[in-house]
Amino acid sequence: MRYLVFTDIHGNLEAFLALLKFSKRHKIDYYLFLGDLVGYGASPNEIIQKIRTLKPMSMIRGNHDKAVCGLDSIQTFNPIAASAIHWTASHLNKRSIEYLFKLKQGPVIVHKDITICHGAPFDEDHYIFGEFDAGEAFLHFNTSICFFGHTHFPFVYTEKDHLVEGTFLIGDFNEIKLEKGARYLINPGSVGQPRDRDSKAACAIYDSTAKKVKFFRMEYNIKEAQEKILRAGLPRALGERLWLGI
Ligand SMILES: [Fe+2]
Repeated sequence: MRYLVFTDIHGNLEAFLALLKFSKRHKIDYYLFLGDLVGYGASPNEIIQKIRTLKPMSMIRGNHDKAVCGLDSIQTFNPIAASAIHWTASHLNKRSIEYLFKLKQGPVIVHKDITICHGAPFDEDHYIFGEFDAGEAFLHFNTSICFFGHTHFPFVYTEKDHLVEGTFLIGDFNEIKLEKGARYLINPGSVGQPRDRDSKAACAIYDSTAKKVKFFRMEYNIKEAQEKILRAGLPRALGERLWLGI
């Protein structure tokens, strides 16, 4: 079974279109989305409309998805993120709000041996940054692999013989072979707002038969995404950061 694993689209339709094009070139059996469809970018309704067509799929909500439909307060968000949440909430149509409102809270177990969560398996809003957080996270799921998002960094944590080791993935392509006896916490990186100083959209393909995870980066039309942000009256910085990958 080949899973397309992706997360943190954040209203960036141009990055999402590049991902959809990519997924057509690869034989995908199942989609795993790890949260944050909206927030920051200018195309929340279009993304929700398109993601409905990806089947079969398991998905969960992110912190922005929660906040825009009133399921969480915006107090924990910085001023720019909060203003994007206000903008998104006022531009979502009724159908989109209903869709976000019904998204499941992570963690969710898929096909018995995959856990998906937005932040961490013990708290959907917690950021896994470093081995300490990862070590805590490994205590809170029982499958051999857990995919997470939220940090917008492509990262692999491996737990073997009670030791946790983190690997930051650099470059356009990476591949890891899953070892017997090891467990994994994997972030595919962000589709719509990468923060690892690489502006390209990120995703991963997990091949459960070959026991491999491949990580990809792809170019997309950043200029168009930025212009839409400016035309929408969203903060200018949200367009600029896309070029920098921050
Ligand atoms: Fe996010």
